[in-house]
Amino acid sequence: KEHIAEAKAFKAQTKEEVEAFRIKYLGKKGLLNQFFADFKSVANDQKKEYGQALNTLKKAAEDRVNDLKEALDKKEDTKGYYGDLSRPGAAIEIGARHPISIVKNQIIDIFSRIGFNVSEGPEIEDDWHNFTALNLPEYHPARDMQDTFFIQTNPDILLRTHTSSVQVRYMENNKPPIRTISPGRVYRNEAISARSHCFFHQVEGLYIDKDVSFADLKQTLQHFTTEMFGKSKIRLRPSYFPFTEPSAEVDVYWGLETDIDYRITKGTGWLEIMGCGMVDPNVLENCGIDSKTYSGFAFGMGIDRIAMLLHQIGDIRLLSENDVRFLEQFKSAL
Ligand code: PHE
Repeated sequence: KEHIAEAKAFKAQTKEEVEAFRIKYLGKKGLLNQFFADFKSVANDQKKEYGQALNTLKKAAEDRVNDLKEALDKKEDTKGYYGDLSRPGAAIEIGARHPISIVKNQIIDIFSRIGFNVSEGPEIEDDWHNFTALNLPEYHPARDMQDTFFIQTNPDILLRTHTSSVQVRYMENNKPPIRTISPGRVYRNEAISARSHCFFHQVEGLYIDKDVSFADLKQTLQHFTTEMFGKSKIRLRPSYFPFTEPSAEVDVYWGLETDIDYRITKGTGWLEIMGCGMVDPNVLENCGIDSKTYSGFAFGMGIDRIAMLLHQIGDIRLLSENDVRFLEQFKSAL
C-alpha cells in the first residue's frame, strides 16, 4: 500500500529519473515482478486482496510513467519553440496579385456596390449558349466576327468566345429582375501579337427588369468609368452586335480635362473600351424571359486591355508569360 502511494506521488525532472522509476517498479527485476513471485506464498484467504493491490500498484506505476513522459515531452517541445526569443524572425515572402485579377476585382467591386452579383460559367461551351441563343443562328455571317476554336463539330462544342454565354445560362436559370456581371476567360483564334492574344478576359454585364431604357445603360456606364478612371467622359458610337439592338461601342476620353492621366496612353483622344446595347427581344425569348414585360441592357469589356492601359503594359503577351520580373512589380498594387 505504501508503494501505491509512493508511485502515485512520484515526481521527476528528467527522462532519466522517469526511466529509473520505471525500472524500479516495472522492470524485469522490479518490485512488481518480485511481488508477483511472492504471490504463491501468500495465504489463500489473502490472495484476493493481495492480487487486487498488485494490480492497482501496476496501474499506478504505468500511469505515472506515461504521464511524466508526456509532460516532459511537452516541456521539450515548448523549449524549442520559444528557444531564442531574440532571434530575428523568418521573413514571409508575399506574392503579388496578377494585374488581370487586380483590375477584375476593381470592376467587380464597382458593380457589386450598385447591386450586381457575379455569375460564372464553363469555358467549354455548346453552340446554343455561345451563339444560337444570342441571335446567331447557324450560317449567320456575324459568327465570323468571332474566330472560334472548335473542340468538336456536329453537335458543336467550342471554347467560348465571350462570356455572353454565361448571361444566357443566367437568364435560363433566374427570373428578372436580373443584375449580374460575368467575368471570365474567353478564346478567339487570332494571331498572337503585342496587341491581341488567342485568349483574354472579359467582364460582361446584364441588367433586366421592367422599363429598362437606354438612358439607364448610359448612366450605368458613366458611373462605372467615373469609379474606375476618375472624372471621365464617355461617348457611345452606334455599332452592331447580333444580341443587342440598338448596339453601341463605348469610348472613354483620355485627356487633360479628365482625371485619367493622358500620359499613359499615346497622346489624348477617344479610346474604345467596351461594347453594349439593349438586349434583343429574341434573346430574351430564347432564354425564357417575356420580352413584352421585360427589357434590359448588356455590356462587355476586355479586362486585359484596361489592365494594359492602367498599368502601362505595352505587350499583352506579358500577361500570360508568368515572368516573375513582371509579376512582382504588382506587389504594391491592390
Ligand atoms: N459579347 C461581346 C463581345 O464579346 C461584347 C458585348 C456584350 C457587346 C454585351 C454588347 C453587349 O465582344
